[in-house]
Amino acid sequence: MLNMNMMMIAGSNRTNASSTCLLRYIEGLLKNRKISVTLVDLREQPLPFFSPDEQELHPNVQRVLEAASNADGLILATPEYHGSVSGLLKNALDYMNAGHVAGKAVLSVSSAGGPVGVSSLTHLQTIVRNLHGVNCPEWISIGYGSNAFDPDGAPLDEGMRSRIQNAVEQFVELTGMLAAKAAAAN
Ligand SMILES: Cc1cc2nc3c(=O)[nH]c(=O)nc-3n(C[C@H](O)[C@H](O)[C@H](O)COP(=O)(O)O)c2cc1C
Repeated sequence: MLNMNMMMIAGSNRTNASSTCLLRYIEGLLKNRKISVTLVDLREQPLPFFSPDEQELHPNVQRVLEAASNADGLILATPEYHGSVSGLLKNALDYMNAGHVAGKAVLSVSSAGGPVGVSSLTHLQTIVRNLHGVNCPEWISIGYGSNAFDPDGAPLDEGMRSRIQNAVEQFVELTGMLAAKAAAAN
């Protein structure tokens, strides 16, 4: 199997955000499989508002784009905001083009205040499609926000842990297939 390299983008601007907590949990699952992971937390590494006029890229933007370019697969995390993606994550994605995402597997995950937040996930899948990425057939939505995790950062619900495990396995398998295809083409 190829040595895989994943990039994760945490799209909440909240301290102890549940969507970021979910990413950290997934990061642990990937690292258990000896997969290398770069996590960009947009709260800790804020990006200026994207402007097509701006020629010079902020160092944080350069880091995000470099990590995306080097990644075999991406995981995007957002809070459910008014049935959509956070502005923070959308802004980061506006910096990207197909060169960063095309042909790569992308897993979308969300955290909602209500029981489920799939509207943001649907919107993320549309954005990924427009960047020519390959949406993972599974996605992850955790409900009831920060009540969903134990103090060690693991989801409290056993069914949720199992769904996350399954989605991550499918994402890793898809990433491996697409990365092997890309390697063979080069
Ligand atoms: C501006 C705003 C809009 C929100 N819209 C929704 C919504 O449409 N549906 C929902 O279930 N929760 C909504 N929520 C609640 C958040 O999705 C919830 O608090 C989530 O857990 C936040 O994720 P985070 O902890 O990763 O920041 C909203 C919260 C804010 C601040």
